[in-house]
Amino acid sequence: MSEQMADNIVRIFDTTLRDGEQSPGASMTVEQKVVIARQLEKLGVDVIEAGFAASSEGDFESVARVCKEVKRPRVLSLARSQEGDITRALKAVEHAKNPGIHVFIATSDIHLKHKLRMSREQVLEAAVKAVSFAKKHMDYIEFSAEDASRSDPDFLIQVFKEVIRAGAKTINVPDTTGYAIPSEFGALMANLIERTAGGDRVTWSAHCHNDLGLAVANSLAAVHNGARQIECTINGIGERAGNTSLEEVVMALRTRKNYLDLDTGITTEQIYPTSRLVSQVTGIPVAINKPIVGDNAFAHEAGIHQDGVLKHKQTYEIMTPESVGITGNRLVMGKHSGRHAFDERLKHLGFNLSKDDMNRAFLRFKELADKKKNVYDEDIEAIVGEEILRVPGQPDRYELLYLNVNSSSDGIPAATIKMRVNGQEKMDYASGDGAVDACYKVITKITASQSQLVRYTVSAITGGTDAQGEVSCIIEDSGFRVSGQGAHTDIIMASALAYINALNKLEGRKHYRQLVEREGP
Ligand code: KIV
Ligand code: ZN
Repeated sequence: MSEQMADNIVRIFDTTLRDGEQSPGASMTVEQKVVIARQLEKLGVDVIEAGFAASSEGDFESVARVCKEVKRPRVLSLARSQEGDITRALKAVEHAKNPGIHVFIATSDIHLKHKLRMSREQVLEAAVKAVSFAKKHMDYIEFSAEDASRSDPDFLIQVFKEVIRAGAKTINVPDTTGYAIPSEFGALMANLIERTAGGDRVTWSAHCHNDLGLAVANSLAAVHNGARQIECTINGIGERAGNTSLEEVVMALRTRKNYLDLDTGITTEQIYPTSRLVSQVTGIPVAINKPIVGDNAFAHEAGIHQDGVLKHKQTYEIMTPESVGITGNRLVMGKHSGRHAFDERLKHLGFNLSKDDMNRAFLRFKELADKKKNVYDEDIEAIVGEEILRVPGQPDRYELLYLNVNSSSDGIPAATIKMRVNGQEKMDYASGDGAVDACYKVITKITASQSQLVRYTVSAITGGTDAQGEVSCIIEDSGFRVSGQGAHTDIIMASALAYINALNKLEGRKHYRQLVEREGP
């Protein structure tokens, strides 16, 4: 990636793997992050923030693995303005083709007083020290002033001037709490760019949160006023109400090029596959009315609209579904489809699998195609989610071997389940308020889990009574909150698989914590 981008090109910085993962329940395994990173490269993002290396062993490994996997985008690790964090981040990105460190510290008085308990002088000193230290080992440094939109602009200008002098190449202005209003945020960006000494030597960046639903609007205001990098996530996932949605901001720039005169390097046809992949991996569904990637984004319901679109598409369509990778060709495969066609479809959906994973997915596809006449894209995504993405780099602790459920209108639902737990077979039985309740009780008994079920959602992946059902659940234990997904033509099986998937993820998280406690971060 060239640092010297044309004046009208906006750099797209994707933080799905870092800020996006901070969405409640969105934790991802290392393997899952690698799969997403490969797709982000295909999508054409310029920068991937792969994690916060010092925050956990898992994050460190994710950053390191992503660095080895992707070639073109720059890969960054986040770090607080502390030598320990920066040293860890430097180690994590050491094998990247285009590495970088993203250093941050808060600058608003409210953060200084209540969170950092530091004076402005101390924050300035820490920021300069951190950037200078990082710069000794790494050429590319981005600096962020956390809570910039609620900071005193004069203090921001002072901090930015000094970190630019210390070697920062990109200056990021976060609206951390999603508090800004577009005209205000645009004016702040213009003010900072104009008044910061050395501001003409760096790239200015916007990082907006969506608490008031204004993240995309604020990001657009920022680039309209001179910023040339937008930090965003796929499907807008992220802390609380999320971050700027990549697909929305990119399509706004493309669709309104006549007004903004700005471009990105995004291959927009890869937007929809990437959105599906991230939703599949995180278990966070995309709202049906979500712009660009929601099911209804290109659906015309009112007769008057349908009539208009049939006569001339542009009457009600400002962009085409094809331009974001929605092909309209949803019926894809059946039992006569071969390995090559399946592989091609996987690639189209954003899954660039290894040979072994592809073979496993193909076997599952054949099994499903025997049960179900038409296999849709969503079915294939579910297979990959179930068969490939759930493997957290080590054998699962829990595995479902057998399930039998009795449920009738006048009896008490009961379930018998056999599982493998740490290599040993265990079987048990329980009754419940319904078939799913009975299953969950047996699984809880067999695994002796103390976790609480926080959310349980079920949806049909495709139409028809032979559709695959997809279950997503969130469980909580020992301060961890994880999501699990399961898909099957039998909804009770899908429910059991989702719960077991979540329990396996929980084990992975606990394992990492023990490791860090024993060996340090
Ligand atoms: O929202 C925020 O301020 C952040 C920074 C760490 C960039 O995520
Ligand atoms: Zn953020």
